[in-house]
Amino acid sequence: MSTWAQQDGWSWPEKPRNLQVLPKEWPGSRLSPVMRGFTRALGVRCSYCHTGEEGKPLSTYDFASDQNPNKNRAREMLRMLGSVNDHLKKIEPSGDKRVNMWCHTCHRGRPRPMTLEEELGEQYRMKGVDTALTHYEDLKKKYLEKGAYDFSERPLNIFGYEVLEKKDTAGAIRVFTLNAKTFPKSANVWDSLAEAYMKAGDTKSAKRYYEKSLKLDPKNEEARDNLKKIKEVPRR
Ligand code: HEC
Ligand code: HEC
Repeated sequence: MSTWAQQDGWSWPEKPRNLQVLPKEWPGSRLSPVMRGFTRALGVRCSYCHTGEEGKPLSTYDFASDQNPNKNRAREMLRMLGSVNDHLKKIEPSGDKRVNMWCHTCHRGRPRPMTLEEELGEQYRMKGVDTALTHYEDLKKKYLEKGAYDFSERPLNIFGYEVLEKKDTAGAIRVFTLNAKTFPKSANVWDSLAEAYMKAGDTKSAKRYYEKSLKLDPKNEEARDNLKKIKEVPRR
């Protein structure tokens, strides 16, 4: 048993009272690796799913209670995993061993496993572009080495187009500018930035960035076409 549990005099119950998915006859000691696995997989503490206050001794928690909605969410996840693994048993694995699915296969240290573009999109819809970009930096600091998110140019580019579709050209320019600063050697990110400037009516900047994209990738026909169009249109 870990020191924090000993320190506060709490121990795993001999007989759990409210198991609905895990085997009812399990003694509490068998829950220990499972519950610890949950906290690690989701990057949370016991209080995320249980009724109890963070920082208070575990002896004050009511682990059998179902009051915390995340507990039933976790139960549904357990059932889902059971059914996924049943399906997996039906296929002949191409490797030497069957690949199992775990909580951390999806969660990877996060309570809500989203793609980076979904995560940024949600922040943008709730709180705007500034918050979304701050969130991006925070996620990068926290998760870059854990591989929970794809930090290549792609997610930011997709997110930028979501912002652009909402006709928020100023916001999209900020997103694409960050991407261009982060991946200055990618023809694609400069092309996206040029497109946002084009939509904003700033043909001068659009031209500059289409040229930049074309220089990095002379085969970018779209940039070439757009540059041609800019030159045909009389200057504003
Ligand atoms: C991701 C959610 C989640 C986290 C985090 C979590 N648990 Fe649980 N816990 C559950 C679920 C779900 C059950 C009930 C399982 C079932 O119904 O089969 C449960 C059951 C229990 C029980 C049995 C209670 C009873 O009497 O029926 C104990 C004890 C327990 N957890 C302790 C802990 C401890 C200690 C931690 C932190 C180290 C923890 N749990 C973290 C979801 C979680
Ligand atoms: C196939 C991928 C996948 C697996 C495997 C998986 N989850 Fe999830 N889980 C999700 C997704 C996606 C969500 C977010 C659902 C939403 O909010 O729309 C989620 C949400 C949750 C939530 C709610 C979190 C919140 O803040 O809303 C809990 C708790 C949870 N999962 C626990 C678990 C546990 C425990 C396991 C392992 C038994 C597990 N999950 C396995 C995909 C998965």
